[in-house]
Amino acid sequence: MADKKKMSVAEILAAARGEGKAAGKEAAMPADQTAAAQAETPQSSADSPAATPAAPKPGSAGRPSVKDILAMARSKGAAASPVDAAPAKPKPASKTAAGKPAPAKKPNAPVAGPKKNVQRDTASILAAARSGAKPGPVGKAEAPVVAKPQARSAAKPPPRPVPPRPARPAAKKPAKNAATDERRGFLGYAVGSFMAVGFTALSMTGGLFGLGLARFFFPNVLAEPPSRFKVGSKEGFPVGKVETKYVAQYGVWVVNSEFEGVQQIYALKTVCTHLGCTPNWLEAEQKFKCPCHGSGFYKDGINFEGPAPRPLERYAIRIADDGQLEVDKSKSFQEELGQWNDPESFVTA
Ligand code: FES
Repeated sequence: MADKKKMSVAEILAAARGEGKAAGKEAAMPADQTAAAQAETPQSSADSPAATPAAPKPGSAGRPSVKDILAMARSKGAAASPVDAAPAKPKPASKTAAGKPAPAKKPNAPVAGPKKNVQRDTASILAAARSGAKPGPVGKAEAPVVAKPQARSAAKPPPRPVPPRPARPAAKKPAKNAATDERRGFLGYAVGSFMAVGFTALSMTGGLFGLGLARFFFPNVLAEPPSRFKVGSKEGFPVGKVETKYVAQYGVWVVNSEFEGVQQIYALKTVCTHLGCTPNWLEAEQKFKCPCHGSGFYKDGINFEGPAPRPLERYAIRIADDGQLEVDKSKSFQEELGQWNDPESFVTA
């Protein structure tokens, strides 16, 4: 028993084939003979352990029969071992346990052997079907080699050559017309001249307006002489003296003369009482003579001829702290009003 357990599947198959040959001889017998033999020995066939594979042989307890071994081998081969599918020999018609003859298998029928573990894919199947070489699914090894489409990057067409851009045709210049050009030149000159004149006048007007505005903000200021000024000491004005050197600058005559029995030094205003002209001192005639209308005034300023209506006016005069005579033009004195009697209107000589 220990040796039988160690038997490999190949050995078991070899043994089964050897017994199968013997059984084949029996199967090769004519069916009539076989049936007769079976009829003659019903008990032997019924009792035979070979006829009933399920029951073990009486002489060999636990030893499997050939059929069992075959069944085991086929089941193992189909389940696990990839044994090459050899066409099975047609088995002889054998009776089943019930005595019915088993249907004889077709000699050309494919034996359901162990399926090959063949890898098939859809591409190979489709290629084979299209080529018509072999209908039905084919193995990957049998399928014709189909060129796989290249990658997208490789399938990109080469860039189109960019044709050079045609050169832009030169714009045709219109033919020059001498008359038209002359008219255009004249119009342009005239318009330009008018515009130039307009802009010039506008700029001049703006300049004048700016000057007027500046004059308004910064008016001219006449530099008038001070209202008070010194004319020197009394000794510089002797009796009967008419000093005319302050006429042009200050409009004043400084006179040392007698008025109403009093010798006085006073300052007469050089303005004619008629219409404002400046009279002249006539040393030879000892009078003031107005050149405008002929009015005449004595040395003390009393009017005696001409249209002058009244005597000349006096300014205030006094002896300053330094002993000099100081004339103040801010104050004036009129004789017809009796103001010449004011002590500010004269200095006693
Ligand atoms: Fe002197 Fe007329 S202004 S006389």
